[in-house]
Amino acid sequence: MSSPLIVPKTQSKKQWLDGAVGYEIYVRSFADSTGDGTGDLNGVTDRLDYLKWLGIDIVWLTPFYPSPGHDHGYDVSNYRDVDPSHGTLADAERLIERVHELDLRIIFDIVPNHTSSEHEWFKAAIADPTSPERDFYLFRDPAPNGGPPNNWLSHFGPTAWTRDERSGQYWCHLFLPEQPDLNWRNPAVRDEFDDIYRFWFERGVDGFRIDVAHGLLKHPELPDLPQIKDIAPGAGPMETFFSFDHIYDLDQDDNVEIFERWQDIAAPFDACLLAESGVEDHERLARYVQPGALDLTFFLKPGWMKWNPDKLVAELVGLAKVEPHGIAWVISNHDNARPVSRFGNSDRALAVTTLMWALGGVPFLYQGEELASPNGLIAPGDRHDPISTRNETDEGRDVCRTPMAWTDAFQNGFTTGSPWLRSEPRPVQFTVEGQTADPRSPLHRYRSLIELRKTHPDLWQAELVFSDTGRPDVAAARRGTTFTIANLGSEPASVDLPEGSWHIVFASRVPASDTSPVTGTVTVPAETSVVFATAADT
Ligand code: NOJ
Repeated sequence: MSSPLIVPKTQSKKQWLDGAVGYEIYVRSFADSTGDGTGDLNGVTDRLDYLKWLGIDIVWLTPFYPSPGHDHGYDVSNYRDVDPSHGTLADAERLIERVHELDLRIIFDIVPNHTSSEHEWFKAAIADPTSPERDFYLFRDPAPNGGPPNNWLSHFGPTAWTRDERSGQYWCHLFLPEQPDLNWRNPAVRDEFDDIYRFWFERGVDGFRIDVAHGLLKHPELPDLPQIKDIAPGAGPMETFFSFDHIYDLDQDDNVEIFERWQDIAAPFDACLLAESGVEDHERLARYVQPGALDLTFFLKPGWMKWNPDKLVAELVGLAKVEPHGIAWVISNHDNARPVSRFGNSDRALAVTTLMWALGGVPFLYQGEELASPNGLIAPGDRHDPISTRNETDEGRDVCRTPMAWTDAFQNGFTTGSPWLRSEPRPVQFTVEGQTADPRSPLHRYRSLIELRKTHPDLWQAELVFSDTGRPDVAAARRGTTFTIANLGSEPASVDLPEGSWHIVFASRVPASDTSPVTGTVTVPAETSVVFATAADT
């Protein structure tokens, strides 16, 4: 038996992150207060009481800034305002105020890797190739054959280069042509974003989730990328993108300098910075939150993995050992199939989430995850995601973006009008209303799990000690007066409790009704996670 690995107690860069639980709101699909079919900021404000009741601490809002909407808000044309479809600047200020009245925190989404092609910088860059704004972006001459300057691809297919017909040069975009990448080697771009951060921090926002944080700086020479896999016929854009080794366009070493610069701006406001990073390597990811850099980084891999117990345990426990404080844990967000559908059922999803609770950092739920929502059903003609509307593929992200199901009434209570994304209504048992009334519902299970971080703070504040369970699909972690066993495997697992008398305080599969003391070896059913506490921490 190998010796247990011990990692130190929690020590977030901002104290308010300790023990917190986050919740992602996909603004356009959360709550529509006007009846125009698109969710808005006032809709969020109206529903804050629900989030307070649920017990979450931090609300993250996806972009609501003025945008032509080619990538549903991730193509920003003005970083200092609110798109009319989502409200006004005054609505944003009211929302921040109400959040703070409820003793919650709110973080916005900043999109620094690219702007919209409708942003005034890009318009100036296209209008005049000698303008200072030209160098805000990555314009390059064609290759000798007249084609794109290198072999880079867009995540959304096909090439990462679009030709500016007037100058004959190409601009780089790791996403849509309407999302031109910024040149982060230009100090003027850095200055602009410093100001954007200050603009919102001065209005009280508690932090930012940083879109494509791993993409900011590109290798200065923009070399071709090595291909590492054959591209199967009919492969979708994402699959094609990941057939290359992204050593020159993503995760460049010097990105950390930008993070440090931003931390210097955020720290005086006690604001947090959270990376969206697709980096999978644990050590590379840990650099994002090294001293002086960002507060947190998402680890996105479990959000796109299929059900694979050994690999899930290895990824979660492996990363927690490398970086025990700075990870924002997620299995669900607005870019991936819902975990209930991806993993096969809701018990598996909650079993993984329960393990995340013991790993330090800040776990995040995505709207509807607390209802164990499966993927939404969308007719092919109703798809909106550019991945599916601009490619022949089923890879699209609309399935996880269907409107939040509040009630059993018209449009599940999301809107009084016609929703921007049409999908089959959810039956009552998948709505907030239906699940609030049922004490055994997923909603109550998630609520109990969230509460655990308040009632048993050792879960995040005590030293973390992993035991060797002898099985790759089973993890066991002691933190002070708590002990979590996650059995993701398909067979029951026998695990030795640490010395002393323990009792169950949470079980992912059934409400923990049996609270009688247990000692010695316990058997945890398949695909179930259980949290125990000692008598000292009931
Ligand atoms: C990641 C965002 O989550 C996704 O929705 C968006 O399409 C890309 N970044 C590009 O901004």
